[in-house]
Amino acid sequence: MDRIRIRGGNRLNGTIAISGAKNAALPLMIVSLLTPETLTLSNVPRLADVKLLQRILQNHGVDIMIAGKRPGQNGQSGDTKQLSAKTIADTTAPYELVSKMRASFWVLGPLLARCGEAKVSLPGGCAIGTRPVDMHLLAMEKLGAEIAIENGYVIAKAPRGLTGARISFDKVSVGATHAALMASVLAKGDTIIENAAREPEIGDVAECLVKMGAKIEGIHSSTLRITGVTSLHGCEHEVIADRIETGTYAMCAGMTGGDVLLKGARPDTLGAVMDVMRQTGIEVTETNDGIRIYRNGAALQPVNVDTQPYPGFPTDCQAQLMALVTKANGTSMIRETIFENRFMHVQELARLGADIHLHGDTAEVRGVAKLTGAPVMATDLRASVSLVIAALAAEGETMINRVYHLDRGFETLEEKLQACGADIERISGN
Ligand code: UD1
Repeated sequence: MDRIRIRGGNRLNGTIAISGAKNAALPLMIVSLLTPETLTLSNVPRLADVKLLQRILQNHGVDIMIAGKRPGQNGQSGDTKQLSAKTIADTTAPYELVSKMRASFWVLGPLLARCGEAKVSLPGGCAIGTRPVDMHLLAMEKLGAEIAIENGYVIAKAPRGLTGARISFDKVSVGATHAALMASVLAKGDTIIENAAREPEIGDVAECLVKMGAKIEGIHSSTLRITGVTSLHGCEHEVIADRIETGTYAMCAGMTGGDVLLKGARPDTLGAVMDVMRQTGIEVTETNDGIRIYRNGAALQPVNVDTQPYPGFPTDCQAQLMALVTKANGTSMIRETIFENRFMHVQELARLGADIHLHGDTAEVRGVAKLTGAPVMATDLRASVSLVIAALAAEGETMINRVYHLDRGFETLEEKLQACGADIERISGN
């Protein structure tokens, strides 16, 4: 298994190109199931999760072609993928594939909408809480599907097709909103999705669906109004920049001091993260081509932050923020309100010298003067990158084990950080 070795202490200076968002690329690829025509996606990040979803989609009969690089094109602009689901060969998404990545469960809605049936394994994914799918199933039932759970599989049937409905969610769920949206665009009649998640990735998917002929109003708001159409056509769509990757590198730069331009970043999707970073004393400036992060060596200030659905502070940046304030000049309080078990990075950060106390859903982070390198273990995707942030500012060497978690969501992480002066390298294992 690969490991990553970091020798801390170097300031980061330079430019980091932001990749396409994993959390948009995955549902956009799933959208291809809704049309027999070709969906061309550009700026698709090269990630383990994308490869895995590709296998799942191929199992359903989707043909996937990856365009080669043209001369002069740099290696950082992501892949262009053409996805064609001319016919759906199989409406079953098997346990072996779905259990490796939770988002693959989202094929349920499109398969049901297009074929009137789907059999999808209950998901696995990151170990960050129980993460049920009850709201996904409720949405499908509202749209007229019959749902049964047998032998670990959701079996959904809508032999006469789906019918538009009012879907009112009790809480905000990104996945359930994607599911309801993807299923309702082909349902008969009108659908209203209330208390929809407003994450920019959902807006990106909705905009792609509109290019394909879907009728959606209220995009980027918490009420989506959909008028079903009988079929969708192909289109070309560029995946939105990854706001979580942006926030992560912003915190790497802020943690080490220095001056980094996050090229291609979308400040309009990062309001809460930029506000919190400014509260720590880091300079965050919107530029014509991204976001500039600058810290001149002044001490970091502590913060009080709750994670919230968008536009609040994202749970996917919680671990990274925690790493950042381990060296703040005082005590920070970070409350996780989205997932109940998302503090697995705490004990690993403690191995680097962080002083963190958990009180239920809140982490009390008492700033320390210095961190020191140690062997640590990556536990989930965002937790593992918090260890990178801490290690970049720790004295001595940190060895991060189980980095396959990082490869699920961060494209060429070592190269991007090395280019800005970080002492980081991957050590290949067997
Ligand atoms: C997505 C993101 C993930 C992010 C999360 C919250 C992708 C691929 N993943 O995950 O990176 O951390 O949003 O921003 O985009 N819930 C239920 N019942 C359901 C569905 C969800 O109770 O049927 C709960 C969850 O347990 C959680 C909360 O709702 O407490 C929010 O989860 P949700 O927004 O659905 O997360 P995901 O879509 O899985």
